[in-house]
Amino acid sequence: MSRVAPALLAAALVVPGVAGALPWNDDMKDQVSVKTQETTVELPAESVPSDGGELDGPADLAELVRARLKAGEELSNPLAAEDADDVRAAEMYDIYCRVCHGVAGAGDGSVGLKYNPQPMDLTLPYVQQQTDGQLYYTITHGGVIMPSYRFAMSQDDRWRIVQYLRTGLLEEAAKVAAAEAESGGETAAE
Ligand code: HEC
Repeated sequence: MSRVAPALLAAALVVPGVAGALPWNDDMKDQVSVKTQETTVELPAESVPSDGGELDGPADLAELVRARLKAGEELSNPLAAEDADDVRAAEMYDIYCRVCHGVAGAGDGSVGLKYNPQPMDLTLPYVQQQTDGQLYYTITHGGVIMPSYRFAMSQDDRWRIVQYLRTGLLEEAAKVAAAEAESGGETAAE
């Protein structure tokens, strides 16, 4: 009997080890659940976020460009040109865009300079030739890394900024260019 007890003890220690290697032992672990270190599960198509808001913008660049072009065809600025409020729009631009796109839209805002890719120069034909709807889409949903502003600003304010990009901002850019030409002129005269 005294020889059986150690054998039993040894068996008791070994058996769970063996059982650990049995295939069904992982059943509890292999479930349809998010595992440790696993990234968040993607939302199924057409899901509505728990806060009830719109879903975030497109997943990749191709989709973003398609959605922007589509918005360009479908959306038109509900504000008439005479409803433009450049003072209000400039205020909104200063709050939401200037840090990245700079005071005159050149893409040289203090925060923007730290970005890669850098913020777009908003005075370029690439931007200026876009339709109002495309620009509105970008402000609403953001860009590749540019944030979205649909929760920050009312729709009217977003449309006002679209108008401002074509008016007040270009005036700012002209002022900067004139000042540069002047200082450039002085330097050349020296
Ligand atoms: C945090 C920095 C940041 C802010 C703030 C920001 N942008 Fe941008 N923006 C970018 C960057 C970076 C790009 C270029 C890459 C991209 O598409 O994200 C860009 C691109 C753009 C484009 C060109 C999109 C295209 O067609 O390729 C427009 C138009 C634009 N921004 C307008 C605005 C306006 C208007 C605001 C204010 C409501 C604003 N941005 C605020 C960073 C910013």
